[in-house]
Amino acid sequence: MLVEHSLRSLLSHSSLPANESRILLAHILEQHYQLPRTTLIAHDDMVLNQTALAEWLALESRRTSGEPIAYLVGKKGFHGIELCVAPGVLIPRPETELLVDIALATIQTIQGSATVLDLGTGSGAIALAIAAAAPGVLVVATDQSSEALAIAGKNRGLLGLTGQVELAEGNWYGALESGAQFDVIVSNPPYIAAQDPHLNQGDLRFEPTSALTDQGSGLNCLEIIITQAGQYLKSGGLLAVEHGFDQSKSVIELMKNAGLREIQAHLDLAGHQRVASGRK
Ligand SMILES: C[S@@+](CC[C@H](N)C(=O)[O-])C[C@H]1O[C@@H](n2cnc3c(N)ncnc32)[C@H](O)[C@@H]1O
Repeated sequence: MLVEHSLRSLLSHSSLPANESRILLAHILEQHYQLPRTTLIAHDDMVLNQTALAEWLALESRRTSGEPIAYLVGKKGFHGIELCVAPGVLIPRPETELLVDIALATIQTIQGSATVLDLGTGSGAIALAIAAAAPGVLVVATDQSSEALAIAGKNRGLLGLTGQVELAEGNWYGALESGAQFDVIVSNPPYIAAQDPHLNQGDLRFEPTSALTDQGSGLNCLEIIITQAGQYLKSGGLLAVEHGFDQSKSVIELMKNAGLREIQAHLDLAGHQRVASGRK
């Protein structure tokens, strides 16, 4: 084994940004040697074996081609839980944690066991974060993608939340049993317009198109979810949806037209209106 394959040398010669090369190399150490990330500093003279070295080179090359780090390491942290992710699901975003916080604040005010619906659950991020933070809550999480539901099911098992979260496949509310009603409905639906150039940039190039765009104006899925919410909310129940940074006005208009009340726009940490909520 050549000395230049030491961890120190691999990091210093990598063309990737330092934080990215450290994440990928830490992943290799964990997978191949069950060693912690601190090895990168504490034993930076360690030399990788041929298999680990080949994987490092492959991951470095895939990252250079733009593949998202989360897909390369197969996981992503979200609202205090860790989720397995793969190219069949959207990579959960930090701004979506706002939706979880809004749901949890409402759940706290409900007497007894609250019921929550997460429409378009993807990796299960929103549903599982709510269930993990509020153990008495029952959550139904839906998606039209069986691939997404398989990943959500895996995450549900790994997090020990199988008794609390039910998964259902189908087109928005069509996944539900007839008569189902909830205290809280949350959704982060596809809201990017079909012509938006961001779809061809960065991580989005690698994520499922069906998770990103409605193939129309960006408001089609939001309109279905908001317009039909009244049928599936208990009286006084809350609907909260994530939307694009420039969609707040349109989404609030949809909520007004649907007869919701106490409509609010919520700001993300960057000060953008990214979530709207209303009550039945
Ligand atoms: C933006 S992703 C959100 C994933 C996850 N909730 C999150 O926040 O990380 C939208 C999700 O909606 C799902 N979806 C798209 N169209 C749908 C439909 N007609 N019915 C149900 N789910 C749908 C996609 O498969 C995708 O998982």
